[in-house]
Amino acid sequence: MPSYTEKLSSLSLSQKILLLSGENSWATPGIPEAGIPPLKVTDGPVGARGASLTAGASACFPAGVSAGAMWNPDLVAEMGRALAAEAKLKGAYVLLGPMINLQRTPIGGRNFECFSEDPHLTAELAIAYVNALQAEGIGACPKHYVGNDTEYRRHDISSNIDDATLHDVYLHPFERLVKEANPWTIMAAYNAVNGVSMCSHEDLLINLLKDQWGYDGLVISDWRAAKDTVDCVKGGLDLEMPGPSDVWGDKLHTAIENGDVSESDLDDKITRYLRLLDRVRPKPELVPETGVDKPEDRALIRRAAAEAMVLLKNDDQILPFDPAKVKKLAIIGPNAAVGQTMGGGSATVNSHPPVHPLAGLTAAFPDSEIIHSVGCTSYRFVPTFEEGSIATPQGVPFFLKEEFETDDFSGEPILSPWPNVGIALLMGKNGDHGDSGTKSMRLTGNYTPTHNGLRQLGLVSIGRSRMMVDDELVVDNWDNWTQGTTLFGYGSEEARADYTFEAGQTYKITIEYTHARERGIQILRFGINTPLDDDPIAKAAQAAADADEAILILGSHADWESEGCDRESMELPGHQNELAEAVLAANPNTAIIVNVGSPVSMPWYDKAKSVLISWFPGEEMGNTIGDVVSGASEPSGRLPFTWPKRLEDHPCYSTYPGSDDLQMLYSEGRLCGHRWYEKNGIEPLAAFGSGIGYGDVQIDAASAINNPANGVSARLTVTVKNSASRDTLTTVQVYAETPNAGPSEPDRRLVGFKKVLIPAKGETTTTIDVLETSLAEWDNETRVRKVRPGNSFKVGLSSADYASMAIVEE
Ligand code: BGC
Repeated sequence: MPSYTEKLSSLSLSQKILLLSGENSWATPGIPEAGIPPLKVTDGPVGARGASLTAGASACFPAGVSAGAMWNPDLVAEMGRALAAEAKLKGAYVLLGPMINLQRTPIGGRNFECFSEDPHLTAELAIAYVNALQAEGIGACPKHYVGNDTEYRRHDISSNIDDATLHDVYLHPFERLVKEANPWTIMAAYNAVNGVSMCSHEDLLINLLKDQWGYDGLVISDWRAAKDTVDCVKGGLDLEMPGPSDVWGDKLHTAIENGDVSESDLDDKITRYLRLLDRVRPKPELVPETGVDKPEDRALIRRAAAEAMVLLKNDDQILPFDPAKVKKLAIIGPNAAVGQTMGGGSATVNSHPPVHPLAGLTAAFPDSEIIHSVGCTSYRFVPTFEEGSIATPQGVPFFLKEEFETDDFSGEPILSPWPNVGIALLMGKNGDHGDSGTKSMRLTGNYTPTHNGLRQLGLVSIGRSRMMVDDELVVDNWDNWTQGTTLFGYGSEEARADYTFEAGQTYKITIEYTHARERGIQILRFGINTPLDDDPIAKAAQAAADADEAILILGSHADWESEGCDRESMELPGHQNELAEAVLAANPNTAIIVNVGSPVSMPWYDKAKSVLISWFPGEEMGNTIGDVVSGASEPSGRLPFTWPKRLEDHPCYSTYPGSDDLQMLYSEGRLCGHRWYEKNGIEPLAAFGSGIGYGDVQIDAASAINNPANGVSARLTVTVKNSASRDTLTTVQVYAETPNAGPSEPDRRLVGFKKVLIPAKGETTTTIDVLETSLAEWDNETRVRKVRPGNSFKVGLSSADYASMAIVEE
């Protein structure tokens, strides 16, 4: 079969223009008469969501930050292969990931999607992810190129970064990916860098990425990130997403007629697009979406999530709890019965049924008496309706949805059951929530509360919405719509109102919505809270006191850690710190599990014997926590970022989010993350790379040889010992010490690592290569990255822990 790229010369100008913009939210247009098929893409990165939320659920893998905490490229590659299979179930050929921006500030709204604060760790994991995905025929789309390290006004902000910092830190993972994994597509970010929008950044897209690094793949705009017709053509964007077109299409025709752009400017873009069609496997076609809940995916997710969980402390070795010995176990906390398996925003998938912590722990401790108490809540918005509490007037679970082509609910509706208790989208006849062709919807359901009393009802929407109870208007997000930071940054503030219900009575709930096409996707979020009992913290403390051992599961919520806004502080939401103090006082044998995607303040940290970070672990959350708490698995993750004691300690505290002029200065330069703490002698709560697992590991010996192979600066041989009586996984880390580091230069940088298994009471010897490309630094005079003479290396088990040193003379 001839390659698609050969078809370029046969395409007319109109056909070329058609190919340069999406057809709808997730697919590019096909040109059947030219033999060119449409191509579908999907978010990413923890699963393949597909275009339809109703055609079949998806596997939900551990979040990016969990993958970062694994420090295990082989395991990330295993997930990459499984994700390729998921993309195929959705008929998609490109998975929109991995996310390789860096966790620059602890409160970044999408930190949970990123691997790490560190460019080297990010690069290594991203290379494994992309190579694995593409070996299965599915294109990767690393995002967001570049400097999209905050959600604060992400469409308007300029990340102002000096050359050395840009090349050594923020571009570094992209450069290594391009050179070592050649991702078939790259997503250009919303933000500007040094004043120039990333979708038209000629210097970074054309001069650097395409010309200097030799990138031959397709540059795709983030969704509605392309801002200007001519600038994007000249600046190096290749495909505008999503469709229908915003800045190209007809506007591109006009630009060509006016002579602002020539047809030949489009040819390189078309060639790149056709090359993508040639690369993906199987050959692209539109196929129906399905979802298969596979035991082998569940097993991988469970194993990987345990390899990501980080045990920060374990005084008296209280963990693991022995299921044979625990008689009464209290399982407490807002994230116990329903945990956060994933973060919010476009990284959300319609997951296969998740296993929550309470269920997983109950299964792991089959002979123990389990006492559960919630203590307090962790959500930001009024939570979604409880499953089982609502049914259509015909008695089918959930809601009846009517969609209208008008915005006043007139005309013949498209009717469908709507199987979701918290969000609804306009989907139209084609099931495309970006281009539904419909303008309004009404959801109707009969609600039967289980408790008497006052409830809060809430609505958040892109566009107007209102909620009626028995036809009486209760929540008005219609006339009183106020712009908020919700729903990708396009949504309203939450509108809330109270209503008094009687248990066992049935109430008709009606939710009406009209779209706002100019403001992102057509989506609505609705909820109702189930009140907690009186004095829930005291009840939780009592539960802890009554038990032999207690597990307290604190955390954040996808309401807080999501796309479109950063968090406002590092505080755990709600009354969780009070809850922790009360539970710790009631039972010292409490293990605290923190279910977050980024760092939070833990004022009770010193009082807790054991603190385990679970991250957002995917659909097997509860089973993994059961495994780890009972000792069936080891929590062998290491921190992929520095965990500060307080937000004020972090490098960009004084410059985030910048002044009103939307100029965000990266004034900490190359001293990002742990490098800042080391340079300034600031002690974090927990260092980058730290975590203890269930072993007892020491570095026993380390040696190095210089330049053992082409492109390798040093080869280190390290022996690690485990004095514990169980096998353990540890991560050996290599840091390069900068010779005569100036005030703006890091004292040390991560340049190599390896996760190794050490047998009980045994030792393991491993070798770690330090690649020139990892060691190289930007040289302002020659404007290239090169290895400086005189580097030396330290080997440790975290960025703060040096067991042994090996000096290498350059
Ligand atoms: C996000 C991307 C995502 C895209 C499609 C954007 O809002 O920034 O990461 O892939 O939407 O959902």
